[in-house]
Amino acid sequence: MRKILVTSALPYANGSIHLGHLLEGIQTDIFVRYQNYRGNEAYFFCADDTHGTPIMLAARREKISPEELVSRIQVEHLRDLQAFGIHYDNYYSTNTPENQFFSEDIYTKLKEKGSISSREISQSYCDHDKMFLPDRFIKGSCPKCSSPDQYGDGCEVCGANYSPGDLLDSRCAICSNKPVLKQSKHLFFKLKDYEVELQNWLSAERVDPAVRNKLNEWFQDGLQEWDISRDGPYFGFKIPGEEDKYFYVWLDAPIGYIASSKNYFEKKNPTLFEEFWKSESTEVIHFIGKDILYFHTLFWPAMLMGAGYRTPSRVNVHGFITVNGEKMSKSRGTFINAETFLKHQDPEHFRFYLSGKLNNSLDDLDLNFQDYTGKVNSDLIGNFVNIFSRVGTSILDKLDRKLGTVSPEGENLRRECLSVSEQIFGYYEDLSYSKAIKEIMKLGDSVNRYVNDNAPWNLIKTDPEKAREVVTNTLNAGKILASYLSPVLPKLTKEISDFLDCGEFNSANLSEKLENCTIKPYKMLSKRVDEKAIEKMIQESKPEENEKKSEEVKAPSKESGLIKIDDLAKVELRVGKIIEANGVEGADKLLNVKVDLGPLGVKNVFAGIKSAYKPEELLGLKVVVVANLEPRKMKFGISEAMLMASGKDTTLSLFVPHRDAEPGDLLK
Ligand code: MSP
Ligand code: ZN
Repeated sequence: MRKILVTSALPYANGSIHLGHLLEGIQTDIFVRYQNYRGNEAYFFCADDTHGTPIMLAARREKISPEELVSRIQVEHLRDLQAFGIHYDNYYSTNTPENQFFSEDIYTKLKEKGSISSREISQSYCDHDKMFLPDRFIKGSCPKCSSPDQYGDGCEVCGANYSPGDLLDSRCAICSNKPVLKQSKHLFFKLKDYEVELQNWLSAERVDPAVRNKLNEWFQDGLQEWDISRDGPYFGFKIPGEEDKYFYVWLDAPIGYIASSKNYFEKKNPTLFEEFWKSESTEVIHFIGKDILYFHTLFWPAMLMGAGYRTPSRVNVHGFITVNGEKMSKSRGTFINAETFLKHQDPEHFRFYLSGKLNNSLDDLDLNFQDYTGKVNSDLIGNFVNIFSRVGTSILDKLDRKLGTVSPEGENLRRECLSVSEQIFGYYEDLSYSKAIKEIMKLGDSVNRYVNDNAPWNLIKTDPEKAREVVTNTLNAGKILASYLSPVLPKLTKEISDFLDCGEFNSANLSEKLENCTIKPYKMLSKRVDEKAIEKMIQESKPEENEKKSEEVKAPSKESGLIKIDDLAKVELRVGKIIEANGVEGADKLLNVKVDLGPLGVKNVFAGIKSAYKPEELLGLKVVVVANLEPRKMKFGISEAMLMASGKDTTLSLFVPHRDAEPGDLLK
């Protein structure tokens, strides 16, 4: 019996579970279920990946602590994943004492070994927010095509890759101030020290040949030192022995695999934890997407080697899911969240469809809804489920729901089904699920042909005992197919085993016969795909569509010129304090002011108020600001909000709050 610890990558706690996460979760879940089906001892661990700047800032925006945010998201993530039949032995979090312990332990051991170096580097820093800015938090115009509002790591318009320093008019994505360069000490993991060990590790079939080729390119380019530290403020674990330095999220994320299993085994079986992570007598298998290959096949095994832990037995890498042939897209409505999918579709249909397409390659996998409807309706329902519904309803009722014995013809049918078991098992083992499904569907065709040829619906009228024989043969063959499909369709096949009253399916009871027993009443097993529901799901996944709809509902009535209260709620009026005001070279009406909006940060505004105000008299003035105005690119720069005023020229008057008000206060 094998002991296998299996993981899938830890979803980031700053977004919802979507089809991509589901692909990975389902691929892993089928593997784990299959292993247990074969009598192996397989465990499935995962967690939420909770650390890093985006999560810290998301929590700030919501005015809650990051701890609060990540515990809420963890509940949502687990709920969504479980709804798709993904069974975890533990779904934990990286923001836990266990993870802190192992992160510190591994780091300290690497340091003792001399695998950590340190040096000063200079990076973009926002003086206003008092923090170093990750690439994604620096915006500006693309140095190549000048498109405004691009991120620091690349342009979404022309596709150019660059570093934040190359951006034209770069600014902090949080407060719009210009970042400066600032020096600070960083810690590095000396990956190159592990080059030979990594090469040896890889040569033992840890990854697929295609992945191996990709890795060879990286080896040829030379392994670089890896920056594992971040300066505060940062949501993460403090680095022992350092001042205001935190582990980079990717250092503690994979350690989350260890932490999740520790948290589980500590209560159930502490020695198993040691067996998994300190010896090589067991297996540790990771499932990941191709985008995070570098972390799992270089940094991660090297960290484990350096710190004296066992290394992964295998890293399985899958491609990305595309929808109708294209990358998932919010505007096309194909960036579908688990929650939305669940509202409109049967999750087991999705598991079945994915299995029919999954193989052990890095290629992307397309979810084409026409194909989806076809495959589910004809293969799952029309072929497999049909076996049970054809003989399990009125015909069995007329036979008092009693089976007889398997006839020689039935034995032949069973033999046909059983003869490919090793083949099917091999497909599950090497993640060629699509081949397993194909094989099972071929058997389904044979069983259905047998039913057609014998027409039990006619026999029941002329020769009920012969009908009983046909039903018995059919259900005995159907049971074998259900058993094969149980890793893919846990819920549906559980209903079948309840219906047949034959206990949980596993490979040991695969060939057991059902004879002279009573079959429970038939309950509808699965419905056909409703194409209208697919349409609805896509509509619901389109952000603009939803906005448009709500605009329609809330649009002001044209006749009266009156607006509804909801329309007013769209305008976010806030108190802002002017902290900087300057004239604008070449503009005779504009002043450039910076308005402090408290927790919302500082916004840059170009306001046409020069006729009535001198810059110096504005300093410290509290004004009323439209805070949620979409930033506009003007000739002189970007204006991100609007000051409220009345009058014009010399009578122009800014609206100011009458009594004490704090910057950022919302006007109601
Ligand atoms: N938090 C990291 C993983 C840390 S593991 C120690 C991360 N999170 S993620 O939420 O962005 O992605 C989680 C997994 O989902 C990754 O394996 C990723 O490849 C996979 N997918 C995310 N989008 C995907 C698709 N569109 N298609 C298939 N899988 C994709 O990376
Ligand atoms: Zn800033």
